[in-house]
Amino acid sequence: MENPFTLIAEYYDEVMQKVNYEEWARYIKTLFSMAPLKPIKTVLDLASGTGNISTRMAAYGYEIFGLDYSLGMLKVARKKIEEKSLPVFFIQGNFRRIPFREHTFDGVYSTFDSLNNILDADELSDTFQQVRRILRNGGPFVFDLNTEWSLKTEWDNLTRVEETAKTISIWKSRYLNGISYLYFTLFVKIDPEKDHYKRISTVFRERGYEPSEIKTMLKRNGFEKVFIFDHFTLNPGKSRSSRVTYLAY
Ligand SMILES: C[S@@+](CC[C@H](N)C(=O)[O-])C[C@H]1O[C@@H](n2cnc3c(N)ncnc32)[C@H](O)[C@@H]1O
Repeated sequence: MENPFTLIAEYYDEVMQKVNYEEWARYIKTLFSMAPLKPIKTVLDLASGTGNISTRMAAYGYEIFGLDYSLGMLKVARKKIEEKSLPVFFIQGNFRRIPFREHTFDGVYSTFDSLNNILDADELSDTFQQVRRILRNGGPFVFDLNTEWSLKTEWDNLTRVEETAKTISIWKSRYLNGISYLYFTLFVKIDPEKDHYKRISTVFRERGYEPSEIKTMLKRNGFEKVFIFDHFTLNPGKSRSSRVTYLAY
């Protein structure tokens, strides 16, 4: 099966147009400022997608390296930085084998449940170990995850239809044996005059993780401090939060 993100890459930004990336970048910056390492300059965006956070973080003055394995998503991201000529470098790679040397980065972040794409807890733990390796001591690692509770209850048996000027998307999700399957059908308007659409169908899979499980995993991989927040706030994140954002250093 073709990479689901590559299949929809060209339309990703249109579909996600309601996402508040401005607020998201501001939130990461706030959490970065809570870590002991100062100043934070060189930063890795893990699973950078179409670069919506990378470009905003670069505008704050960070030097951003974006890593993503979908060439389609990278293509959209690269086009954006060419237009704005920002200090962002996009690299194709897998976050399960992060291709950088020890202590290369002052900070690392990963947004929009990208790490829920790792369906195996041991592989997620390996990824944490690699992030620890490439991060300087005291540098922040900020990322968000959908909780197991959210995928099991809020997302199970859900059908949603969304419409934008150029697309109609149908989101159907099911939770089965610990994995959430999102059956995603996208209709893209190819002829506005005649109301003609093309159809793309794909499946995204995510595994939810318990905050306490993630905290243990981070500590096991050498992060001394772990803070768990209800997403977009500084309130404590819980098992029954929908999305939890972690700060570890
Ligand atoms: C939901 S998108 C989020 C993109 C971006 N972080 C954002 O906030 O818009 C998830 C991204 O994770 C990337 N991804 C999934 N598995 C990956 C892996 N093993 N290595 C690198 N990137 C991966 C996908 O290609 C996709 O761009």
